[in-house]
Amino acid sequence: MTGTLVLAVESSCDETGIALVQDGRRIRANVVASQVALHAATGGIVPEVAARAHLRWIVPVLDEAWANAGVAWTDVDAVAVTHGPGLAGSLLVGINFAKTLAWVHDKPLVGVNHLEGHIYAAWLLDPGEEDREPPSFPLVTLVVSGGHTFLAEMRDHLTYRLLGETVDDAAGEAFDKVGRLLGLGYPGGPAIQRVAAAAVARDRVFPRAWLGESYDFSFSGLKTAARRIIEAARAEEGIAERPDAALSEGATAELAWGFQDAVVDVLVTKTMRAARTLGARSIVLGGGVAANAELRGRLAGEAGAARLPLVVPRPGLCTDNGAMIGAAGARRLLAGDRASLALDARPTFPIASR
Ligand code: KG4
Ligand code: ZN
Repeated sequence: MTGTLVLAVESSCDETGIALVQDGRRIRANVVASQVALHAATGGIVPEVAARAHLRWIVPVLDEAWANAGVAWTDVDAVAVTHGPGLAGSLLVGINFAKTLAWVHDKPLVGVNHLEGHIYAAWLLDPGEEDREPPSFPLVTLVVSGGHTFLAEMRDHLTYRLLGETVDDAAGEAFDKVGRLLGLGYPGGPAIQRVAAAAVARDRVFPRAWLGESYDFSFSGLKTAARRIIEAARAEEGIAERPDAALSEGATAELAWGFQDAVVDVLVTKTMRAARTLGARSIVLGGGVAANAELRGRLAGEAGAARLPLVVPRPGLCTDNGAMIGAAGARRLLAGDRASLALDARPTFPIASR
């Protein structure tokens, strides 16, 4: 793949990302315009607002990516774009932008599944970062994001066998909902991590849904339990009838820690069992929730004890960005994948079926 330069566009949710990626690995530029501040005001994403913000930011993000990379269109081999899963309006902005760029500059267009982008973030190298071994196959990958949670096996590039997935909420969705219940605002994941780190007593036990030996996940029961436990804590502090009053910092930290511990416990246990059972040679962790320090630390500890290499992108490459789409897009380009200008948004787009 030496010599390929891919310009990649990501706009599936609430980050506008454009990157230039060399050889499917080396980041030349990676610019992300986040809409977090915009959606914090409504406590979550309003799809029309997200699409409008993509329209507003996509050109300035491209301009900045060019300025950072110091390359020209003649150096670019292909344009890659996320075409699902995600919000229809958000996807449409990136797809039409990428299609137009590909047509105007006469470059091949490559469609990428956003979830496969989260996996391929593990192959990325920052500018100036020392080269390192890419993940080895067969591997087990856990993808945990705001919309998806699944475990898959990869025996080679671009081939995914689904081992298990969430039967209800995604892990990130649970973080966001419990964050809201604790009054921590949007997005809940980073806020819960920050608050939980200050917990003094770490003995609050939240329920785990093991679902027997299956590799599936369920977080809706945990969310309901969290609501009940938080209400009980509020009653204990005498603020049950005062929705505007905040729970004490100490209790908030302990509850955040208990919830995070329950999610991480299930994710790590199932991932390690899958890796051992399938004889994986490495583990790849990806998706926004993979930015979570507790999840990264615990999985690193267990994988290390089992002598299994774990590859986790730095937090900024776990959350949505264009570089991960460039890494996966380069693989697809190499495999001969070409999208036509009829490429359409696929709001629902499973990476594999069982
Ligand atoms: O992959 P992503 O950026 O967007 C989707 O494809 O959904 O994931 C966003 C999710 C949100 O639910 C956010 O709360 C969660 O990732 N997240 C975290 C952390 N950082 C982001 N969850 C737990 N701990 C974090 N540090
Ligand atoms: Zn994502």
